[in-house]
Amino acid sequence: MLFYGFAVVALLTATVSAQARLWEQCNGGIGWTGPKTCVAGTTCYEWNPYYAQCLDAASPSTATTVRSTTTTTRATTLTTTTRSTVKTTTRSTTSSSSRSSSSSSRTSTVTTQKTTTTTTTKTTTSSGVCGTATFAPISAQSAFDALHPGWNIGNTLDAIPNEGSWNNPPITSAVIDAIKASGYKSIRIPVTWTHHFISSSPIWTIDPTWMNRVEEVVDMVLSKGLWAILNVHHDSWEWFDVTQFDNAGVEERFGALWAQIGDRFKCKNERLLFEPINEPPGTTDAHAAELNKLNDIFLTKINQAGGYNPKRVVTLSGLGQDTYKTINWFQRGTLYPNQPWGLQFHYYSPYDFIFRAWGKSTWGGADEKATLELDFSTFRGNLSGIPVVIGEFGGSPAGLEPAAAWRYFDWFTQMANKYHFSIIAWDNGDDLFNRTTLKWHNPAGQSVLINGAAGKKNALALGTTDGSVPQLSSAFIFHKVGTPVVSQTASYELNGNTLVSIKNGATALTSSQYSFSSTGVLTLTSSYLSTLYSTSSAPGVKAELTLTFSQGAFLTLTIVQWDVPVISQTNFANPTSDFRIPITWNGFNRVAAVRAVWDNGVYVSDDWTVWLPPLQQARWTFGNWGYEANSVVLWQSGADYLRSNKPAGVTNAILTWEFYPRDGYTPGSNAVNVTIGL
Ligand SMILES: *[C@@H]1O[C@H](CO)[C@@H](O)[C@H](O)[C@H]1NC(C)=O
Ligand SMILES: *[C@@H]1O[C@H](CO)[C@@H](O)[C@H](O)[C@H]1NC(C)=O
Ligand SMILES: *[C@@H]1O[C@H](CO)[C@@H](O)[C@H](O)[C@H]1NC(C)=O
Repeated sequence: MLFYGFAVVALLTATVSAQARLWEQCNGGIGWTGPKTCVAGTTCYEWNPYYAQCLDAASPSTATTVRSTTTTTRATTLTTTTRSTVKTTTRSTTSSSSRSSSSSSRTSTVTTQKTTTTTTTKTTTSSGVCGTATFAPISAQSAFDALHPGWNIGNTLDAIPNEGSWNNPPITSAVIDAIKASGYKSIRIPVTWTHHFISSSPIWTIDPTWMNRVEEVVDMVLSKGLWAILNVHHDSWEWFDVTQFDNAGVEERFGALWAQIGDRFKCKNERLLFEPINEPPGTTDAHAAELNKLNDIFLTKINQAGGYNPKRVVTLSGLGQDTYKTINWFQRGTLYPNQPWGLQFHYYSPYDFIFRAWGKSTWGGADEKATLELDFSTFRGNLSGIPVVIGEFGGSPAGLEPAAAWRYFDWFTQMANKYHFSIIAWDNGDDLFNRTTLKWHNPAGQSVLINGAAGKKNALALGTTDGSVPQLSSAFIFHKVGTPVVSQTASYELNGNTLVSIKNGATALTSSQYSFSSTGVLTLTSSYLSTLYSTSSAPGVKAELTLTFSQGAFLTLTIVQWDVPVISQTNFANPTSDFRIPITWNGFNRVAAVRAVWDNGVYVSDDWTVWLPPLQQARWTFGNWGYEANSVVLWQSGADYLRSNKPAGVTNAILTWEFYPRDGYTPGSNAVNVTIGL
């Protein structure tokens, strides 16, 4: 998506001030307690009702005012031109020739050049321009089916200003190989072009070095037989934003950009798809009408560039790549009716679960499943027959409670299959796959996603789904220091599966070490568990068992010896910057939630959370707090909020840090109070 991962990174690395700085979050919906204004030179931009961010306020649209007529005229001219070219192509002879491409030999239909009568334009038909490069025409639906599931190489070529500017190393061939080996069929390549123009209006030339690098990455992906979606990414708010900038200037630059991208990539094979723009901002009829027009400008420019572009599959979208805005407003223009096209939307819902807000660490109740299905069925019902790809969706099982994340991924893939949507997972580099170690942060989550996308029935780890206390999870066996070692259970929803094996590393557990009931209840015997921990063993992760099933994903079962974490100093006076509090984790080193009340018991913010389930009441949004390897952190935005919102008569704020397993916030539970004197 947008900046989720980046925002986290920014919080980790930057010092937050009372006013949010460039890129920082400046609103978070109801009860947002962080800064709501931005430092000078930036402006608070609302992505959605839950997330706003300080963006560069500098308008790029100076000097572009008078160009709309030019653009329009050009577009019209070129439309005519390209249409006639298409006609020429249709009438020209086609010959089937067998060519070997990479490992497999395949037959492609190649149009032979016959530039005779109808057109005198400089657009040449494919073979003339593209030489021996092949292209096997394919329908949008077949292409979308073939690219399912895919993976986003996020926060990379879309980073601002350069690849490497954010949290990821440059893209390597090894990363692409690993993604392919993991079962993905496509890679969406988000690219931000804004900072690579070497001239401005009216020329808008892209730096050839940048264009070469983008082509190198596209070739890397295509050469491995994967599908690729190339787009224009954070440009969407840097200069493309029709809610802020003059339409004519946007049209001019957008047209110039796609003319160049279209030209450079016109001879790539059919596995390269184009996506005009990522998450285009807008909220009104006028914005939507302008976006529909910009989609047509995109089609015009790529067709005008020629090569194989007239037959290339494209993904179009509505405002924000949002389901409901697309339903309300998207209209396919009348230009290039033969261009194979489908729709793309993005899905990050429910927000509180995906973004770990307000203590929400459970998911999967019947109502939540129904809500997700309703979003999908509403989209499909309104846009039946149109190929659809979900170009981004979120949820990192590395940060979320794993069993809840697995349930979410499984249901998401089931519903995507049911409504015939192809899926491409968002990964900012911290969410899913470590591009340095080439390992998945949560291999079981990865397995659930890939198997679910393939239509397999996954067994799932059961656990609390409704936010009640305690939160149970069959992704873990938790054993508390000081308690006797007894047999323990983990429960599974089998979905037609039988258990095949349980292993600890390479060693399979024997039948004397566990039992597994027909209803999916695993019991690990006390004698087996006592090989992993005792009453007094040091806290920590003791083993990670792997359960394989007769079909679908494997799951992991993490065995944790735990005790309540220790924060040696728990009273602090009025922090004024990011405030790191050292912690001894004693088990599973993650904070699940933070409860925030004043010393009179009143909620620090978000008093409406009183209506939420017990695990969520008075819990603070993730952006106010965080955690690192050896500390929990009160970000400056959180500290500032406390200072500036302290009611009369109150001296302290009490922050309760809650850990996994979640069993409440009162004394004796897995939680630690920190008192902030104000
Ligand atoms: C179309 O979308 C609207 C909401 O925008 C929804 O109420 C309606 O049920 C949808 N139609 C179908 C056939 O799904
Ligand atoms: C990826 O792995 C490297 C090397 O072990 C490590 O330094 C880095 O923190 C990891 N990244 C994430 C996001 O876990
Ligand atoms: C933390 O403080 C809150 C508010 O005073 C209190 O209700 C709760 O019991 C305390 N929890 C712990 C673990 O001390």
